[in-house]
Amino acid sequence: MRALTVVPRRADTATLTDLPDPTPGDGELLVEGVTLGICGTDKEIIQGGYGWAPSGSERLVLGHESLGRVRHAPPGSDFAAGDLVVGVVRRPDPVPCGACARGEFDMCRSGRYTERGIKERDGYGSELWTVETEYAVRLDPSLEHVGVLMEPTSVVAKAWEQVDKVGARSWYDPKTVLVTGAGPIGLLAALLGAQRGLDVHVLDRVTDGPKPEAVTTLGATYHSGPVTEVAEKIQPDVVIEATGVGQVVLDVINGTAAYGIVCLTGVSSGGRTIPVDAGATNRDLVLENDVVIGSVNANLRHYTAAAHALATADRDWFDRLITRRVPLSRFGDALTPRRDDIKVVLTLD
Ligand code: BGC
Repeated sequence: MRALTVVPRRADTATLTDLPDPTPGDGELLVEGVTLGICGTDKEIIQGGYGWAPSGSERLVLGHESLGRVRHAPPGSDFAAGDLVVGVVRRPDPVPCGACARGEFDMCRSGRYTERGIKERDGYGSELWTVETEYAVRLDPSLEHVGVLMEPTSVVAKAWEQVDKVGARSWYDPKTVLVTGAGPIGLLAALLGAQRGLDVHVLDRVTDGPKPEAVTTLGATYHSGPVTEVAEKIQPDVVIEATGVGQVVLDVINGTAAYGIVCLTGVSSGGRTIPVDAGATNRDLVLENDVVIGSVNANLRHYTAAAHALATADRDWFDRLITRRVPLSRFGDALTPRRDDIKVVLTLD
């Protein structure tokens, strides 16, 4: 079978490799890959800035945004051939740490977690893959076209859960959310905000293309002006930050309403410095009881929430987020950004 592989930490090593078909172990599904989503993390791995190969191997099979169809399920499992499934990305610290021991591997304290397609485990970027039944999530068959958005939706479902948990420390009745960045994570965060009945605002640099329309279709407001001005005007109770750009991060931290919650989801690369008035930022956070939280990955509870969000939202809206479907053999095209890209996916079947 063909697999998209890289040598982690070495730029431009992505290639299609012929690998033996995988044999499912006890309690594992054998899955035919249908679609694979490409995200910023994959690009960073390809550029040599992130990623770890499995122990004893030079190359890593890329891909963590999966969608596949079960070819073989262990007898007595909850799965059957033909089921549409998504594989969970993270596996717990094997020791495990306290969070991992409680199924909250997304909050791993030791850093010894592993991740399919990212950290020490081969990913889902191959024509066939295996997955443990307890880390496979079944999707409604009607989601074949958009189910590849399940993983990023799970990341956003976790972010919203974190916001709610922080909000619950006191009386909490958010009305307005600002989402910075109208990529897949930002738009999915906006969708979940709209599903909660909030007044949703999304800010991005572009002024045309598919992003503004994806936002307005949700009944949300699209902005492309300076972050400080938009924040000043709308006074957000919640910000979901999905650009990872240092200046945007600082501007939203300083721009919430009192008792504001900023949830950071963008994984940025380091190396750029900007001047910060740390005293003013501290003063703003303290005097307003503001909170800034980081949020990464997702556990099974968040996958369930994501499956619900996918099942209940308008399919056409999700479909619009997938702006290009590229066959695996032309993976290079998928990795070359185009102006109107939102989510680019590889087709594996
Ligand atoms: C993935 C997460 C993962 C994170 C860090 C993101 O792109 O969606 O599941 O935890 O990268 O490796």
